[in-house]
Parts: sequence; structure tokens; C-alpha cells
Amino acid sequence: LLLSLLAAAPVLLLIAAYALSPSSAGAPIAARLRVPYPAVIAHRGLSAWAPEETRAAYLLARELGADYLEADVQRTSDGVLIALHDDTLERTTDVAAVFPERRGRGADAFTWQELQRLDAGSWWNAAHPERARPAYAGLRILRLEELLDLAAPAAARGGAPGPGLYLETKGAGRYAGYEREIVALLRARGWLDPPPGGAPAAMARVLFQSFVPESLVRLRELAPEVPRVLLIDRKDVGKEPWRAFVQRAAALGAGIGPSGYEGMPWHTGPAHLAGLLVHHYTINQEWQLRLLRQLGSDGVFTDSADRALAVFGRLGGRERTAVLAEAFTKTGL
Ligand code: G3P
Ligand code: CA
Repeated sequence: LLLSLLAAAPVLLLIAAYALSPSSAGAPIAARLRVPYPAVIAHRGLSAWAPEETRAAYLLARELGADYLEADVQRTSDGVLIALHDDTLERTTDVAAVFPERRGRGADAFTWQELQRLDAGSWWNAAHPERARPAYAGLRILRLEELLDLAAPAAARGGAPGPGLYLETKGAGRYAGYEREIVALLRARGWLDPPPGGAPAAMARVLFQSFVPESLVRLRELAPEVPRVLLIDRKDVGKEPWRAFVQRAAALGAGIGPSGYEGMPWHTGPAHLAGLLVHHYTINQEWQLRLLRQLGSDGVFTDSADRALAVFGRLGGRERTAVLAEAFTKTGL
């Protein structure tokens, strides 16, 4: 009997924890923040199907109906804000061929004009021949301004409201003053304006995210109205009790962004009790999406917005493959 109880302990623990933290606990938090629930956040765009953080990846995510376009914001040597994940350009561009002497340098070692000479799409075709497309060859690194234009509501799309932006200050601490520049650009383009007529916003159009608490402090000073999410690095989990991460996130903003491994009820439950939204990264497989949803995740950063939308019942009963094919046709890719 003792052995049976011991064997069943993990399952019993999970059931008990689940009872304490039901899967819908984050719904009122999301409603208060006006964040879609559960949120589908297109991680680097539709990056399972197109080169990450390029116009193609973001166009596809927009056409599919992702709630937010996720981007890692960095800055060139001449002060242009761009979307780029890595610390160097080697993995996602042909920098090694174009600027061999600077191949291991960061975005801030190049001017915008120089970055425009790089091909940010052909690497994808080589790495993913089964998903390669001629249109991807020669794609350019995207300016943040271009991303704003792409996500903005457009008469050409029947006045569709367009997705929101979920911006990570990836260069926090590296690019002095750049949070101010990000906020200034968003303000200049009207992204932080309240809706006309004093009506409440239908949806939070911008969220900020960062692994760097100091960056969120700066963003709070610059744009207190924008929800902030503290990302949690997997390698830091375990160094402190989980409640310390929750307390830090609650002191800094509205949400916490852990990896999917921190998706258990004893992670998500305390975050909800602290009034935090919980968005997990980077969740791509159907079983992961289903499990995290059951366990109370409020949204996912996903490379496969198509799959997340399907799992969350957001495709109006249509087949995922059909919706995806239509998005490719509409975007001309
Ligand atoms: O921003 C959420 C998730 O993107 C964090 O990981 O490395 O993909 O920026 P990373
Ligand atoms: Ca990111």
C-alpha cells in the first residue's frame, strides 16, 4: 500500500494543486488588463513557417489572427531600432559573406544602411528546405517602424484592427537610453494613444517584456500605462524560491513570462494569486499547448500561431492547414 501511495504521489499532488489553481484563474486578470485570453503571441512572427522577425513572418502571423506580434528590439550604430533576436547576425543573415571581418559583432556594430545589405531570409530556405519559399530569399532585417506599419489597422484590410505588439527590450543595458526611443516611437505613431471619445480600449495594443528588471523600471517611468511582463530565464529558476520571482514580477508590472517548464500549478497559481498574468514561452507542440492551457496558462509565445489558434478554438472550425494556405495566398508569399 505504501509503495502504491508513493507511486501515485505525483499525480495526487498535481490534482491537489490543480484544484487550488483552476485553469480559468487568469481570466479576470486578463480582462482587467484587456489582454486577449488565452493570448496567442506570435513569437518572432510566424517563425515556424518563415524566417524569424522578418516582414514575411509578421505578415503571416497577422493574417492568421495572432493576438500579438512578438519582437526583440535592438538598435543599430546610427540609432535605428530593429527587430533581431540574437546577439550577432551570424545565424540569421549572410553577414559572414558580406562583412566577414565583423561577422561576430552585434547589431550595434553596423549602420542601418549596412544592415540593409544583409539577406535575412535565405538561411531559412537552407535550414528548412521543406518550408522554403522563393519569396524568403533576400528578405531584409526589419525596422521597428516597419513592424508598426505592418501591425497598424489598415483600410486596405477592411479596417481590421490588426494585432498588438509584444516588444522585448532585448538590448536592455547594452543600448543606453533605448527604452526612451522605443516609447517615443510608439507615442509618435499613436500606439499609446487612448481610444477616441474616452471609451475604454478594446485591447491592450502594446505589452513590454524583458528579462532585465531595470529595463521594466525604465519602461514604467516612460509609459506606465503599458503592461509589463518580467521574463524568467530557465537557468535562474531554482536559485531562489519561486515566490521571489513572482514578487519581483508583481513589483515591476502586470505579468510574468516563464518557460513552459514553469507551467505547473505551483508556478501559475501563486502568480495568479499575486494578480499576475502568466504567459509561457516558447510553446509549439499541440500537447504542450493543451497541457499548459489545462494548467492555467494565460497565453503562449509560440512559433506556431496557427497551431495555438487551432488548439484554442480560434479558427472558426476551419482546418489549420486551410487557414495557413489562405494566409500564404493573401500575403503573396
Ligand atoms: O520573449 C519571450 C521569449 O521570446 C523569450 O525568449 O530568447 O526567444 O527572446 P527569446
Ligand atoms: Ca523574445
